[in-house]
Amino acid sequence: MDEQVARAVEVLRRGGLVAVPTETVYGLAADASRPAAVRRIFEAKGRPADHPLIVHMASAEGLVTWARHVPMAAWALAAAFWPGPLTLVLERAAEVDPVVTGGLDTIAVRVPSHPLTLAILERFGGGIAAPSANRFGHVSPTTADHVRADLGGRVELIVDGGPCRVGIESTIVDLTGARPAVLRLGAVTSEALGAVLGEAVGVDEGGRVRAPGQLASHYAPRAAVEVVARERAVAVAVARRSAGERLALVSSSADADVALPADAEGYARRLYAAMREADALDVDTLLIEAAPTGALAAALSDRLARAAAPRR
Ligand code: TXA
Ligand code: MG
Repeated sequence: MDEQVARAVEVLRRGGLVAVPTETVYGLAADASRPAAVRRIFEAKGRPADHPLIVHMASAEGLVTWARHVPMAAWALAAAFWPGPLTLVLERAAEVDPVVTGGLDTIAVRVPSHPLTLAILERFGGGIAAPSANRFGHVSPTTADHVRADLGGRVELIVDGGPCRVGIESTIVDLTGARPAVLRLGAVTSEALGAVLGEAVGVDEGGRVRAPGQLASHYAPRAAVEVVARERAVAVAVARRSAGERLALVSSSADADVALPADAEGYARRLYAAMREADALDVDTLLIEAAPTGALAAALSDRLARAAAPRR
């Protein structure tokens, strides 16, 4: 553990790229204070330069470095959910290089909870800019092998922290408007945010922000994706296969080609890995069982809808 941490810090200090585990998905990290290093992230991912990155920090104390002004709501949410799967959007400090924020006046920050990456952040001292460590538009990686498959050869070091515990990207909440608004759903629900802030927190309907996670088609495997109700999944797969379709059933049923847990947390943890495994079966369509009900349902439905959306 210590050796991976030391090597990661050394690569970051040189301005290199390191893939790091977080509790949500793996990130592709660079020193957020070095524009040349941050630019390499965009090259490695094939990501358009106007898409803003999240800056990861060791603790909430870092807020005053990256944000021009830290509202009470930010301190309250940080105290309640950090380290953890929540990203805050705030007004950016004047010193932040626009390459990090895609030219926006706001900045996204979070404190991740994976022990290896927290150790890296503590030793490194500064902030690390890190988008999900996948090629642009592809499914986010939840294991070190996924990162290797997408970005091997484009990154100097992949820190292996095992499979990600949450499995879907962090909740993003924008605190720069008149009222807080969720820009991306994740494991921290809008109800949980509302309970801390003492006011209802709505989900932004889009238009306000340019964000790759907001593109209709995103988090997408190669094959087409269709979502099917759990009760009908097997029957639909059987019928369509006998009609000659090449498809993979991704579901919690015993007849699945790729297994998904039936509980919401297990489903979230496995979803992206299951999409990648099903893609490797070289079929035309992934038939994915709908998300289980529960606190994660809205976030999971959002990711499934993006994976299923028509490709650009
Ligand atoms: O869980 C996560 O958030 C992972 C791990 C690695 O931390 N990161 C992640 O990064 O998902 P990325 O770049 O794949 O997605 C970040 C999202 C994008 O939709 C981006 O547009 C949005 O955050 N974002 C970043 N800065 C923003 C800003 N200033 N205003 C609005 N949205 C912003
Ligand atoms: Mg991403």
